[in-house]
Amino acid sequence: MRIFSGIQPSGTPHLGNYLGAIKSWVETQNSEAYFCVVDLHSLTMEIDPKTLRNQRLELSASLFACGLDPEVCTLFVQSEVPFHAQLNWLLECVASYGELTRMVAFKDKSSRQEAQRASLLTYPVLMAADILLYDTDRVPVGDDQKQHLELTRVIAERFNNRYGQTFVIPEFSKPAFAARVMDLQDPTRKMSKSVSSPLGKLEIFDSPAEIEKKIKKAITDTDGEMRYDWELKPGLANLLDIYASFAGETPDQVASKFTRYGDFKTALAQLVIESLAPIAERYNALMTDRSELERFMRRGAEKASSVSEVVYARAATAMGLN
Ligand code: TYM
Repeated sequence: MRIFSGIQPSGTPHLGNYLGAIKSWVETQNSEAYFCVVDLHSLTMEIDPKTLRNQRLELSASLFACGLDPEVCTLFVQSEVPFHAQLNWLLECVASYGELTRMVAFKDKSSRQEAQRASLLTYPVLMAADILLYDTDRVPVGDDQKQHLELTRVIAERFNNRYGQTFVIPEFSKPAFAARVMDLQDPTRKMSKSVSSPLGKLEIFDSPAEIEKKIKKAITDTDGEMRYDWELKPGLANLLDIYASFAGETPDQVASKFTRYGDFKTALAQLVIESLAPIAERYNALMTDRSELERFMRRGAEKASSVSEVVYARAATAMGLN
């Protein structure tokens, strides 16, 4: 089973990134799994070059610390494999302007940015290139990436119809719970690196005191009933999802173990602190040897290049470029 997924190096991963994506990457990693730090995608929004340079390596270390094993799967940085940008261009000649303007993430981000980069519009095409370059069967992501995944399938099918069988059509997969972790201060919007307030997002390297404070202050409701109900009690449902995901239980099982919100929040904070502590420890250890990390990443990029080169050549030939 060929697996591919990606994450932007635009800040410390939060609980949404961890529970929606990274945790399932760790659980399903195999020798056919490719995970990518998508630095080219981060350039679609304003980002300081020095920050981007540091975050590429820091995010790579974070992903290893979360449990990706360089002896099992392949982790690499997108810009170190030239075929992503190259296939992107070929696919821009297959995707249509209309379908890109309909992407919810584009509408959302473009309404918040003053000077819009053209790449914000074409972003999903680069994402399709990322995925299709590895003959990917399955893409484990959070729920917010579903529309982009559907577009990837449309582009791949159109390419195959027009130029002959070239790409594998990938499936999207998301975790059973916590596929959309919501902002702790506003459970009607997703937890987001760029939009959520400091209290609204919980980052994987937050201190125990910060974790406790954020969970204690998380918005719930006033009826005081421990029940899993996304429609009427989204704040509580979000916290139940987080607990369930860390504990390997269902949200209903979790709800039945507690009677008071206060006790539940205390137990949740404890569970999150205990689950994240080893990740921070491993991260600190990894960052003491940057040259070893760089070696892992170079090896990852070489492996990813050797696979994607073949698929790129297949697509270029199909279109008449060689
Ligand atoms: P990014 O960097 O925003 O997020 C990385 C992963 O985290 C998931 N995620 C969430 N899951 C649950 N709840 C949330 N609040 C939450 N926020 C983020 C995302 O769904 C994602 O799985 N476009 C992608 C990166 C990308 C990619 C790809 C992904 C580029 N190329 C190819 C898969 C395949 C993105 O911006 O993810």
